[in-house]
Amino acid sequence: MAAVGTLNTPPLNLDSSMLADEMALDEALDMIDPLRHLRNQDDLDDHEDGHVVPTQPRSIQNEKIQLMFPNRVSKEYCSPRIQITLKVDASPGCGGIAWPAGEVLSNYIALRGERYCQGRTILELGSGTGLVGLVAGALGGRVWLTDQIPLLGIMQENVVLNNLQSFVTVAELNWGDKVGPEIPCPDVILAADCVYYEPAFPLLVKTLSDLSGETTEILFCYKKRRKADKRFFTLLKKHFDWKEVEDDPGRESYNREAISLLLLSKKT
Ligand SMILES: C[S@@+](CC[C@H](N)C(=O)[O-])C[C@H]1O[C@@H](n2cnc3c(N)ncnc32)[C@H](O)[C@@H]1O
Repeated sequence: MAAVGTLNTPPLNLDSSMLADEMALDEALDMIDPLRHLRNQDDLDDHEDGHVVPTQPRSIQNEKIQLMFPNRVSKEYCSPRIQITLKVDASPGCGGIAWPAGEVLSNYIALRGERYCQGRTILELGSGTGLVGLVAGALGGRVWLTDQIPLLGIMQENVVLNNLQSFVTVAELNWGDKVGPEIPCPDVILAADCVYYEPAFPLLVKTLSDLSGETTEILFCYKKRRKADKRFFTLLKKHFDWKEVEDDPGRESYNREAISLLLLSKKT
């Protein structure tokens, strides 16, 4: 994973009471600049010396990067090392570059290996470049990469760059919209770095809820940026339970970067 600065990150406390004034200010500033939390280091309101931005410059345009993910090797099982070529380009929007939570989730999927992906329908929300889903596709999953229209081009290019057309399909899916009949009911839902714009919180929860059933596995990789993110978890709690993924050897390291990998399950 890309190197990032160290943080003394307090444990995520998703249940504590909301701080109304700060959140109201956050909301007002979001209306002016919805992406400011992704861009500005000083938005890490819970950290004193936070380094939240990934190593890629915001001005990045039409570049290709190579990312390697470890394979799972055990006594009885071994899968190949995954190499993904990724076109990154900030011009279609914030999703056009690779974000740290996406790298964390990709790494975890690679560790779970082919046995986790093969034969399963896997849908990624807010895929951006498509990195996470591409790793799942490279491991044999039937993958759907979804995002808003401006990102569909770069996702499709990345599918072709990695020769994954037989495994990975690209589709438009705006959170909160009715899910079209062309999108199948997934066994697994993946989402990385999708909590940053408050007006989208209820839309994302609705889509997660619309797409999932009792047995759907949802891997949700979240980077904490500000206190108002708690509102997302307050909404999420109405429909889902969650716990931290504990079998990821990288957990301690990315927790220090305020990243958590959560397993969500729908409340029955
Ligand atoms: C910070 S980027 C993360 C991209 C990718 N998951 C990663 O980790 O590199 C957030 C993504 O969510 C997508 N997104 C934001 N709002 C959305 C919405 N209402 N419907 C669908 N996708 C949305 C953006 O287009 C963007 O690709």
